[in-house]
Amino acid sequence: MCGIVGYIGREPAAPILLDGLAHLEYRGYDSAGIAVCKPGGGLEVYKSKGRLEVLSASIDGGVHLPGCTGIGHTRWATHGEPNDVNSHPHVSEDGTFSLVHNGIIENYLEIKESLQKNGVRFTSDTDTEVVAQLLAYYYREGVDILSAVFKVLHRIEGAYALGILCADQSDMLIAARKDAPLLLGYSEGGQFIASDVTAILRHTREVSYMEDGEVAVLTREGIQVYNSLKQPITKERHHVDWEVSAAEKGGYEHFMFKEIMEQPQAIAKTIAPRIRDGQVHFDGLNLTEDAIRDVKKIFILACGSSYHVGMVGKYMLERLLRIPVEVTLASEFRYCDPIVNPGTLAIVISQSGETLDTMAALREAKARGAHVLSIVNVVGSSIARESDDVIYTWAGPEIAVATTKAYSTQLAVLDLLGLYFAKIMDTISPETYTEILEELQRLPEKLEQVLAHKERIQYFASQYFNHNSVFFIGRNLDYAMGLEGSLKLKEISYIHSEAYASGELKHGTISLIEPGTLVLALGTFDPLFDKALSNVIEVKARGADVLALTTEERAADMAKIASGVIAIPSTHQLLLPSLGVVPLQLFAYYVALNRGCDIDKPRNLAKSVTVE
Ligand code: M6R
Repeated sequence: MCGIVGYIGREPAAPILLDGLAHLEYRGYDSAGIAVCKPGGGLEVYKSKGRLEVLSASIDGGVHLPGCTGIGHTRWATHGEPNDVNSHPHVSEDGTFSLVHNGIIENYLEIKESLQKNGVRFTSDTDTEVVAQLLAYYYREGVDILSAVFKVLHRIEGAYALGILCADQSDMLIAARKDAPLLLGYSEGGQFIASDVTAILRHTREVSYMEDGEVAVLTREGIQVYNSLKQPITKERHHVDWEVSAAEKGGYEHFMFKEIMEQPQAIAKTIAPRIRDGQVHFDGLNLTEDAIRDVKKIFILACGSSYHVGMVGKYMLERLLRIPVEVTLASEFRYCDPIVNPGTLAIVISQSGETLDTMAALREAKARGAHVLSIVNVVGSSIARESDDVIYTWAGPEIAVATTKAYSTQLAVLDLLGLYFAKIMDTISPETYTEILEELQRLPEKLEQVLAHKERIQYFASQYFNHNSVFFIGRNLDYAMGLEGSLKLKEISYIHSEAYASGELKHGTISLIEPGTLVLALGTFDPLFDKALSNVIEVKARGADVLALTTEERAADMAKIASGVIAIPSTHQLLLPSLGVVPLQLFAYYVALNRGCDIDKPRNLAKSVTVE
């Protein structure tokens, strides 16, 4: 999705903005641009369709632009095709205002028509341009800049994070937010705005998160924030402890590969602080032990891979807690009139903490009376702030669009939560509790063993990367894990791929199996291993190439039938997806590599989906 960065300070803004935008590239974009205030007044705007390098090369990396106040944007087209004109920043017809915007202005057509009737001429097809034109329109009526901004915010509907420059005021940058992430950064050398902290991490780790309705005025000296009633307020500052290097490739060819390799450490970092004296602790939860005992139903709400974590979580939590767990796509939840009774807990899962559909589901669950506990990777993100309780995954910044370490750490948190709840609900024996907890602590070491066999997976990828259609089949936890394996493959390699519960094969899908079809048969879950074997025989009989995933104990049996076998170490059966998903991530990675795909920035996808 779109990215925003803005700077006001003592240094020339353009190189800082371009560097910031480079750190936002991972979010997905189709065009980029910057605007800088000229020292003597006026604005310079440069923007172009395509990669950031194109823009950067066209202005020599910005080194000849002296202005010290500026805004930058990476655009992911919603209204109007990706082209130079529709790119941000947008400028009012009279050249007074330039701005960047994330989100969607829902009533833009009505405002556009009314401005056009007043003689304002538009150049782009975007919703954003109305904000610049409306600002200039109010400003021409004689109000000051800040008042014009508030008037605009009262008039527009929808979601926005805005960075605004005025040609008449080169020492001021204005920011506003509603339903789209925006943060403020403070440093000795100047002040920043950013849609994502990675854009400014090189310059500062002191940030404030803007709330809906707030407007910030940034000058070289500092930042003044106003609430929606235009009253000055003081913002709390937070220290971000992510390492700058964590958001950089560090010698790896791709962020995705680096993040796959980081999973053992990410899981260790996520679970270690929550385990003391052989027990799981979640300090500071608002959900009391009594309230946990009263939980009668759990909803898991999420999108994409986070939803797949929920699918694994359902099997695991129902097994441990003996209460129903319903996993619902966040994008569906608010439209399905969900039944939320007393004793309903909503677990919301999101890496970014900014996914719009997930946020909407959270609000729906809350409005219906559920206690909302979120599992989030980005500290201070919107979902984290609106939840009744938040448990952070300590995965560090995840840059590749295809999630890997976020998935693994979310799963680890759910495992911990399952144990924590089961003990309080008295649905687990002390022996089983200890066994699962010890195995959880061994996951990082076992994951290292899985990663050590990456060349074997690379070999299989080189054999199968030309297939056009791939099926992942499995039962129970293997099915849930297959959903993620299939998503990984399709999103980065563009191969058509589906995940099916093996039992469903006979009900339709098997008609698609023909000689040469690639089937990834997932058979790690020991209680159903024989059934997994039968399904492999079934698809082999129809000519499929079968690459199987199973445990080391079962590898020899599987090898008698499957064309190729990948084996993972054994662990407690509820934790198998944590190990099994890694070969599937690697398989997708190597297949995409063989196909020459843009692995970290797959086509049409964005890291954080902040529109519906
Ligand atoms: O930030 P979130 O976890 O809320 O994002 C949800 C999905 O958009 C995300 O998992 C997406 O499916 C990934 N690209 C999968 O790799």
